[in-house]
Amino acid sequence: MKNFTFHNTTKILFGRDQIPEIVNEIPKDNKVMIIYGGGSVKRNGSLEKVRGSLKDHTIYEFGGVEANPHYETLMQAVALVKDNGVDFLLALGGGSVIDGTKFVAAAACYDGDAWDIVKSYGSVVKKALPVGCVLTIAATGSEMNNVAVVTRAETKDKLFFASPYVMPQFSVLEPELTFTLPQHQTANGVVDAFVHVLEQYVTFPVNAKVQDRLAEGLLNTLKEEGPEVLVNPTDFDARANIMWAATMALNGVLSTGTPADWASHLIGQEITGLYGLDHACTLAVMIPAIWKFNLADKKQKLAQYGERVWNIPASDTQTMAIQAIDATVAFFETMGIKTRLSDYGLGEDSIPAVIDKLKEHGHVALGEHGNITPEKVEAVLKIAL
Ligand code: NZQ
Ligand code: ZN
Repeated sequence: MKNFTFHNTTKILFGRDQIPEIVNEIPKDNKVMIIYGGGSVKRNGSLEKVRGSLKDHTIYEFGGVEANPHYETLMQAVALVKDNGVDFLLALGGGSVIDGTKFVAAAACYDGDAWDIVKSYGSVVKKALPVGCVLTIAATGSEMNNVAVVTRAETKDKLFFASPYVMPQFSVLEPELTFTLPQHQTANGVVDAFVHVLEQYVTFPVNAKVQDRLAEGLLNTLKEEGPEVLVNPTDFDARANIMWAATMALNGVLSTGTPADWASHLIGQEITGLYGLDHACTLAVMIPAIWKFNLADKKQKLAQYGERVWNIPASDTQTMAIQAIDATVAFFETMGIKTRLSDYGLGEDSIPAVIDKLKEHGHVALGEHGNITPEKVEAVLKIAL
């Protein structure tokens, strides 16, 4: 295990009826802007509940943050925040709304060109407005981490930034808020969280037993509860287990002292930026292809994963690794998430633009060994066709 520093400052308010607690988390004299997405929070009543909790605060609202939030939209929120002297931002939604809110929080306090925040991967951020979250979809872990992913629609650039200043101060995790998710979004969330664990676990062994067994616990939970909520979307316990697993999957605990891959995410970001696939769909396509390409590097952890998550019987490492890949693909398909580029209408002609974007963004040494070059990505994408 490598040395590590672990510091996570987000307060989690988990369970039933937590929204009324928000009022105790935001100073009484703060002007609060509630930021939300395309309208699900109006239809399922969560916006009304949040308004109720903040009835004694001065509140502003900004709706219309799209999935894969657009810089262009978020800059409208930044203008409103500045014009009204807003003190506190409350994200009500999923990863897109939370990420968008983190960007607004940083951009409202930044004097230069706000796109610098993304271009610099967050290094120019020296302060931000405080952010709180009410999570409506279990997926990204954004509610308890310092990362945000923003898309510039004009140039099709989808990029992440990270900064300790945008760490949420608190996040409300009410599993019931996820009851109204469309089945496909539920599945997206489970697959995204599953892949977050995999990207931090299926690398090479470093004898990090705590992290490995935490990862295996989260994977087993998502594997059991994911199919359950597709059938019973209002099963509170299953929703609660998925929600906490998704948060734990990307709050920094798993990456303490361990190598991480993230190639699927970085390639997937370009695919979403260029072709609009849902984030989780890009991961379901990329991770099996990367594993097949990198089998020699990853087979030990793949075999361990196969044994401890998919109950694959002991045999030679290579065979177990291949069976683990097959089991993972079957799981994604069971969740209704397709696993090949061609399932999304993308052919070989879609590949060069992905490679060009990766080069443009300097993502030319991917994977836990930093040895996946753009040429290798091309080979991986061909496997994924
Ligand atoms: O916009 P509305 O109308 O609210 O509908 C949303 C949206 O269409 C809907 N939805 C959310 N909660 C709902 C609901 N519908 C009914 N009932 C509810 N309770 O679901 C759709 C998807 O929402 P979105 O926020 O886009 O989903 P998700 O949480 O999967 O976020 C995806 C974004 O997060 C980024 C992704 O790249 C993508 O941009 N990620 C952020 C990460 C981070 N900050 O750490 C890490 C991830 O790897 C990921 O990259
Ligand atoms: Zn993800």
